[in-house]
Amino acid sequence: MRASRPLRRTLDDRQHNRGHRMGALQSMELRTTRLLLRSLVSHDREPLFAIHADAQVMQYSNSPAWQAIAQADELIDQSTKWLESGRHICFGVASVDADGLIGTCTLYDIDRTNLRAEVGFVLGSFAWRQGFMTEALTAVLEHAFNTLDMNRVEADTDPQNHPAIKLLEGLGFQREGLLRERWHTNGRKSDAAFYGLLRADWRRRVTQTTNSVA
Ligand SMILES: CC(C)(COP(=O)(O)OP(=O)(O)OC[C@H]1O[C@@H](n2cnc3c(N)ncnc32)[C@H](O)[C@@H]1OP(=O)(O)O)[C@@H](O)C(=O)NCCC(=O)NCCS
Repeated sequence: MRASRPLRRTLDDRQHNRGHRMGALQSMELRTTRLLLRSLVSHDREPLFAIHADAQVMQYSNSPAWQAIAQADELIDQSTKWLESGRHICFGVASVDADGLIGTCTLYDIDRTNLRAEVGFVLGSFAWRQGFMTEALTAVLEHAFNTLDMNRVEADTDPQNHPAIKLLEGLGFQREGLLRERWHTNGRKSDAAFYGLLRADWRRRVTQTTNSVA
């Protein structure tokens, strides 16, 4: 991934023909208290571009900050194809009230043989630290474990990306390893911290939260 992994591999569908990632997915929506997670549509192009053109947002991405709005069009187009292929689901994260796009949360490489997928996420800096990505990712993990029947969700982040690490660990992801100098972006080499969350961990956590509320 790399949150912005749309940005790591976005336009480079190297594994397109892997036979075990199959099954076209329907267009889908997930709702939370404050958010609507839905397919990207053409009117998202401007907010999508603004989010990814922000160097602060892209600091730990595998791609430089976007420079042209055509990159937003390309991701919107690509996300439709991804859904049709059943390989990835890119949810646009929008506020329920205004339906304004504030970010994306994506399940990549949905592997129906090994029952695993990878997660990536990005949020406009104007929306940081209000619990939005915790809310969005919780819904996406519920979807991955309960609807898509995944057994494991993975994440790859820069070990210096403290907000992403706080987010992942807060949701129960465990750090499983460090791959040195795995990425090379903008002339900078960066390590990859790998995180994993098992369905059993997630269910245990949900049960504990429910019991502590009751
Ligand atoms: C990572 C990112 C998605 C977090 O989104 P967010 O909605 O601000 O996160 P939340 O508000 O849900 O916070 C989750 C946890 O991280 C902590 N956190 C978030 N931003 C933080 C920051 N800048 N510094 C320290 N902690 C931070 C929160 O306090 C919260 O922890 P808590 O539950 O113990 O309070 C957002 O910072 C972002 O889009 N960054 C740029 C893109 C990126 O790096 N994506 C990840 C690439 S792998």
